[in-house]
Amino acid sequence: MTQIKRARERRMFRLLSRVFASVRASRNAVSAPVHLSFCSAASRCADFPVKPIMEANLYRPPQEVRGMTSLDKDAFKQTITVPALRVPTGVLNKVVKSLRKSTIQRPGIPRVVQDQEQSSDFRLVLLDPHRVCSPDSFNEAEAEALRSFSVPQELHYYELQLSYDNLKSEEVLEAVLPQGLDVTSGFSRVGHIAHMNLRDHQLPYKNLIGQVIMDKNSGITCVVNKTNIIDSTYRNFKMEILAGEEDMIAKVKENGVTYEFDFSRVYWNPRLSTEHQRVVQLIKRGDTVFDVFAGVGPFAVPAARAGASVFANDLNPESYRWLQHNCKLNKVESRVQTFNLDGRVFIQGPMKQEMPALLKANASVHVVMNLPALALEFLDAFKGLLKQETHRDVNLPTVHCYGFSKDDNPEKDVVQRASHSVGFPLEGRCSVHFVRNVAPNKDMMCVRFTLPEEVLFSSDPEHTETSEEPRPKRQKCEETRDAPS
Ligand SMILES: C[S@@+](CC[C@H](N)C(=O)[O-])C[C@H]1O[C@@H](n2cnc3c(N)ncnc32)[C@H](O)[C@@H]1O
Repeated sequence: MTQIKRARERRMFRLLSRVFASVRASRNAVSAPVHLSFCSAASRCADFPVKPIMEANLYRPPQEVRGMTSLDKDAFKQTITVPALRVPTGVLNKVVKSLRKSTIQRPGIPRVVQDQEQSSDFRLVLLDPHRVCSPDSFNEAEAEALRSFSVPQELHYYELQLSYDNLKSEEVLEAVLPQGLDVTSGFSRVGHIAHMNLRDHQLPYKNLIGQVIMDKNSGITCVVNKTNIIDSTYRNFKMEILAGEEDMIAKVKENGVTYEFDFSRVYWNPRLSTEHQRVVQLIKRGDTVFDVFAGVGPFAVPAARAGASVFANDLNPESYRWLQHNCKLNKVESRVQTFNLDGRVFIQGPMKQEMPALLKANASVHVVMNLPALALEFLDAFKGLLKQETHRDVNLPTVHCYGFSKDDNPEKDVVQRASHSVGFPLEGRCSVHFVRNVAPNKDMMCVRFTLPEEVLFSSDPEHTETSEEPRPKRQKCEETRDAPS
């Protein structure tokens, strides 16, 4: 009995040595793309305890690529050994389906290949070397399926040539960037543009990173990196091209609506699509919307599409032009009036003019204020907006005002700041919605409240109503003929 056991152990040792030697020897080999050569059969594995016979990460590219700053795709070529099953062609599809979880999953690598003898009766099903190391690796359902299709659980080993094309972006970047440092290959996608926010330690590799992101994500033809924090008035940021052609005119679809804009000159954040939808869903046909910080129109355009009359404003002339362009693009220019004003001037000008009539009407009025860094401070513009003699009605506007908060209690914080700005306690009279976490200790919140009569008709001495009526640059979209350049 002991002799049999020792013989089994010796066989196992020989088998493992052979497989490891095959992996090592093939690491730097360079040959035709994705070759699959028959290596050896190893059904004896069944006798041995389940042990991993492959490296922890078999797909790890060769050591030599570490520190590369200019992408050399050839340096990623290597040959590895993967397990396979020899399957009669008659049951091939059924077997592949049954082994879904155990077959190889690699970009550009087929799961089924010819066997060594190029037999028309058999094919080789390549298996995931990190899941399958012996016939025992198959789970009960898989083993049962193999039995039912009369496929022996005998493992074969194949040499598979891997190239740059078969690696995922994280695998390439992890192999290239300094060991132990964070490899973030995440980006925001804005049409054909991938927008990254690289850390200092990644900067020496920025062009390589850009190239990898472009290669590994279909449809991306331009990769940019933020070069400063988003602190300009217009909420856009400087960026540099890391890879691809410099074409900043993006076309995106959000919630079924198409927008076009120059990404380098306006604000656009794909992470706000849910928030845009949440607010737009509250707007009904016949309602009126005042979008104080409209950007290129992600609230204004869908609100108009939903049948609302929209007054949309942005201080950035470039946003204003693309806002008009997007109204036309979506055929809602007759329902959107656009303005290129400071938000306060917009509230105390065009909005003030429209408000008395709207207060008498039945349809809802929404005021959207998405400039989270500053919008809460703009709320004081509503104080005493209308004179006492103006007809009062219950149809008061609903304000959706956004704010960032770094407070431990962001809900309380934004309500306090909104109350202070508007000069009226909003506690218990508003709802607060968490929009998203923008940094480890910074949240974006939305405070929603009905603008109190006490604020709108306030005779607060602090309120200094502009004696001169602001003369807005006001335009109906349809009057504008120029497409944004
Ligand atoms: C955070 S973006 C929001 C844009 C759009 N509403 C959205 O949800 O994507 C804020 C916008 O406010 C504009 N803006 C900044 N300061 C402004 C001001 N004082 N008055 C009016 N618009 C302003 C910026 O140009 C920018 O387009």
